[in-house]
Amino acid sequence: MTANEVRESYKKFFEGKGHKIVASAPMVIKDDPTLMFTNAGMNQWKDIILGTKDPGKDVRRVDSQKCLRVSGKHNDLEEVGHDTYHHTMFEMLGNWSFGDYFKEGAIDYAWEYLVSVLHLNPEDLYVTVFEGSPEEGLERDDEAASYWAKHVPADHIINGNKHDNFWEMGDTGPCGPCTEIHVDSRTPEEKAKMPGRELVNKDNPQVIEIWNIVFMQYNRKADGSLEPLPMHVIDTGMGFERLVRMLQDKHSNYDTDIFQPIIKQIEAISGKKYGFTTPTGLNGEGKDEQEKIDIAMRVVADHLRAVAFSIADGQLPSNAKAGYVIRRILRRAVRYAYTFLDQKEAFLYKLLPVLVQEMGQAYPELSAQQELIARVMKEEEDSFLRTLEKGINLLNGDMDELKAHGQTELDGTSAFRLFDTYGFPLDLTELICREHGYTVDEKGFNEEMAKQKARARNAAVVENGDWEVIREGEQVFVGYDYTEYTCHILRYRKVTQKKNTFYEIVLDYTPFYGEMGGQVGDQGTLVSENETVEIIDTKRENNQSIHIVKQLPKDLQAEFMACVDVEKRNGSAANHTATHLLDYALKQVLGDHVEQKGSYVDPTTLRFDFSHFQKVTEEELRQVEKLVNKMIREDFPLDEHRDTPLEEAKELGAVALFGEKYGDKVRVVRFGPSCEFCGGIHAKSTGRIGFFKIISESSVAAGIRRIEALTGQACEDTIYALQDMMNDLKSMFNNSKDLKATLKKFIGEHDEMRKEIEKFQAQAVERTKEELLKRAQNVNGVQVIKAVLPLEPAAAKDLAFKLRENISENLVVVIGSTAGNKPLLTVMFSDDMVKDHSLNAGTIIHEAAKLIQGGGGGQPHYAQAGGKNLDGISAAVDKVIELANL
Ligand code: SER
Repeated sequence: MTANEVRESYKKFFEGKGHKIVASAPMVIKDDPTLMFTNAGMNQWKDIILGTKDPGKDVRRVDSQKCLRVSGKHNDLEEVGHDTYHHTMFEMLGNWSFGDYFKEGAIDYAWEYLVSVLHLNPEDLYVTVFEGSPEEGLERDDEAASYWAKHVPADHIINGNKHDNFWEMGDTGPCGPCTEIHVDSRTPEEKAKMPGRELVNKDNPQVIEIWNIVFMQYNRKADGSLEPLPMHVIDTGMGFERLVRMLQDKHSNYDTDIFQPIIKQIEAISGKKYGFTTPTGLNGEGKDEQEKIDIAMRVVADHLRAVAFSIADGQLPSNAKAGYVIRRILRRAVRYAYTFLDQKEAFLYKLLPVLVQEMGQAYPELSAQQELIARVMKEEEDSFLRTLEKGINLLNGDMDELKAHGQTELDGTSAFRLFDTYGFPLDLTELICREHGYTVDEKGFNEEMAKQKARARNAAVVENGDWEVIREGEQVFVGYDYTEYTCHILRYRKVTQKKNTFYEIVLDYTPFYGEMGGQVGDQGTLVSENETVEIIDTKRENNQSIHIVKQLPKDLQAEFMACVDVEKRNGSAANHTATHLLDYALKQVLGDHVEQKGSYVDPTTLRFDFSHFQKVTEEELRQVEKLVNKMIREDFPLDEHRDTPLEEAKELGAVALFGEKYGDKVRVVRFGPSCEFCGGIHAKSTGRIGFFKIISESSVAAGIRRIEALTGQACEDTIYALQDMMNDLKSMFNNSKDLKATLKKFIGEHDEMRKEIEKFQAQAVERTKEELLKRAQNVNGVQVIKAVLPLEPAAAKDLAFKLRENISENLVVVIGSTAGNKPLLTVMFSDDMVKDHSLNAGTIIHEAAKLIQGGGGGQPHYAQAGGKNLDGISAAVDKVIELANL
């Protein structure tokens, strides 16, 4: 079976068991403060599992989820590439039961699929069950064990500890005991030597876990305690890459048809061969070198997928949060390729076509954005390679120092600086040092690393308290229809960040929009009969509006009126609607490749990022503005379709974004021809925007442009500011009626005058030259000409060169200029003075200019230096003569 066939067969099997096939959620998570990336198939169902969202009629679902495990609780990054079965990005096959079948059903389905559909040999399968945890008050999962006993002999059921058999999403959140299925794929001889059960969970690459079935029963709270979940949920996760490897009878995930096409391409580009660590590969000499090549190829093949899929989900490499994680993954791949595959130029992006060919069908977001992904990757690679180069130069300098001092060990601080500033991990520094016969102080490096970690820990730690429940219930958002609403507090929690304390409140009904989709959260007040509390911001978490207040209301049980600040809300709404019109207009003017890549909307400004591969011209920007303003004047009303089934919304022609998570039902927002999937707050009609004006267009990353624009009131203010400036200008020109003509004439006269001045100056220089030639002093056979005059820099230079034309030997000229009250020193020597007397105007002026608090330099025969201290100019002139030592 090919990988694509395996994926299909899994979905089809569970579809046959009444499961609905659903799409993978994006790999990059946008509105959950506890998680940056989807690290398990269950993430997208977190609110259903916690009971804050109704699963509706589809209580059985099946999918293949794109996951990334690189940070937080499930972190595999450093292992990736070194073994043959860990990945950063991987696919997780999952079947879900929300309050429907539980332990027995899940175990029976899993067994049937593995044994009857995929025909795995039952003798090779081992299962683990939770052994219990007295300190948590949890007993052994005898129930799961009893269901397994229907399928496997007792010696194939193994007890597992809390680490392996109690699955938790993170430090807090849904969790429960789990049962894992392990497959023993060793040879019959190996199996005869030692039973597979001895090798389960022992890091043996041939006896590995392929499927984890979690019985979600608890919610782990911030204080560490366990709270039962409202309903039992089945969450299963099968490692797709491992499963395919079993089925294709390979010893490494990288030998399957998921990775082989990529590895073949790496071989073609690098000219190196993959294969020692597989049993059929090379042997003998060069074993270590070959192993490094293999590891590097695996790192590159794995990281290519992680980076490409993240960019496709809208997450660009950057210096913060999720963007930084992506940057680190890409840099890790570049380092390995640079060091072990000799790739000194951008290389990863060249592998993208193969990846798109292999996975583009199952994940169309990849093929649709191929060009953008390639550009972003290449730019990021180029820039990191430049950094690497700088780091290597620095390290070469450090090694020269060591050599000069007869030392052999690079200190830890220098190694750490390379790591911190240039992204050199210790092993790369050690490798380069070793090649030159030096060692690295590893202990010193680790100490510096520990210091930095401590610094990071002390900065900006946010501590969330547990939710205190005031009343049971779920929140209803009424903000599309109301800006004020009667409500009660459902729950609140205390949050401490950098010693500041505030509270987060969940209301039963709220008109407050929580920050999402680029639109900032509402502000306003919470008013009861006896008090008014300010809501300083609203954010969004697990689909709910979280209201942020500095003080809790005194009476938490009271009835409140939640009142949104309408003026701010209207500003944000108009700006949000303007971004939709802008998106539409950009597609019309620039083409269909334009894809939204980010936006920011607040009460006064709007920003819109989109894919486009060159600068947008002035003419195109004008066209876009005109189209947007035309749509504003047409006053299209907001035509909103809430709870539209996803398929129907697509048929309406609504524009969906890659990397956005959409439920089964979506909201579609239409203004005339513009139609988008959107959960934001909008103006009632486009006319409310008033007017639209672009104020800047720039680049944010390779292939991504940014437009900043103003609307309504802000445009009005800008127009007044422009008008005031025009009036000021006119009044400077006697209230000219035709300012353009007046200015043209003025500039013409100004140019004429400048030419006249230059002519006069040239004549003055000529006269001054004659005068100075007469005043030249003979000092030991050298003609010395010195003067302090009110000359412009160009005139001073001109004068110095003219004097040298007259006296070509034994000449020293020093001119101090005072024009515009700015001191300037000009020094000129004839060539023989430079040659025979070893004079250097550049060095001398550097010293003398100190007297005018200045600096400058030049060539040995001519130099100029400006300064700040006008009073020192005569002394500086004399200093030059003194230093010339005639
Ligand atoms: N949540 C479990 C895991 O990620 C099973 O899907 O392993």
